Amino acid sequence: MMTSNERLGDFNINKEELPKHIAIIMDGNGRWAKKRNLPRTLGHRSGINALRDIIKTASNIDVNHLSLYAFSTENWKRPQQEVTALMKLLIEYLKKEVKELHKNNVRINTIGDITKFPPEAQEEIHQAKELTKNNMGLTVNIALNYGSRDEITRGVKDICRKVANKELCIEDINESFIAEYLDTYNIPDPDLLIRTGGEYRLSNFLMWQLAYTELWFADTYWPDFNGEDLLKAISDFQNRQRRFGAI
Ligand code: IPE
Ligand code: IPE
Ligand code: MG
Repeated sequence: MMTSNERLGDFNINKEELPKHIAIIMDGNGRWAKKRNLPRTLGHRSGINALRDIIKTASNIDVNHLSLYAFSTENWKRPQQEVTALMKLLIEYLKKEVKELHKNNVRINTIGDITKFPPEAQEEIHQAKELTKNNMGLTVNIALNYGSRDEITRGVKDICRKVANKELCIEDINESFIAEYLDTYNIPDPDLLIRTGGEYRLSNFLMWQLAYTELWFADTYWPDFNGEDLLKAISDFQNRQRRFGAI
């Protein structure tokens, strides 16, 4: 087993300039399964292995935030049986793996409106957050029933309520103020976005927060994505020049 330092060397990664926040659209589970003539739900199950490896790798190299798109506001459109299987898998994952994540100093957070999730899933999420809330290592933000448009809509409603109650003047609304009303209020914007599965779109993920994020796409289906692929993405990221509109 290589130490994380040796692995960083292999990928020519500069430890001083790691992305602080990496966001990932974990896509391609269904096609991974289809290619093997397996049911889609087995693709999701295999995706858990990739998830484990990516969290381990990210937490070994001192990335502060990892945001993972696990269930979108649009994913409710899938057949009921697949939605149910995804909820079950989430509950099973949290039940089985939160203790280990806690041991590794990982803090679990969620973004998205989980009030639409089954009570048992909400309870597991609540417990995972409570158990890990003081951990100072990697923060894993799991996006559950998350969609940027829904997030922004909820934020706008909260702001309007304050204006209507005269707790807030319209003139005081600015960009950083709006950011405070998003689910990511305490999280820096992602430096790097990875999407697996060969699609080149955002699918309603972090659209406000990704304004200046570097985008990196892989054809690899999510269950085949591993820590080395993550290091390759980070290495490519370090060869980009970010300008933020300046020259
Ligand atoms: C991503 O894999 C996981 C979720 C959306 C929950 P998909 O299920 O979208 O896999 P493909 O894109 O159909 O292959
Ligand atoms: C995005 O993948 C959502 C998640 C990975 C959870 P989708 O598979 O739902 O996105 P589309 O439908 O291909 O855009
Ligand atoms: Mg997909």
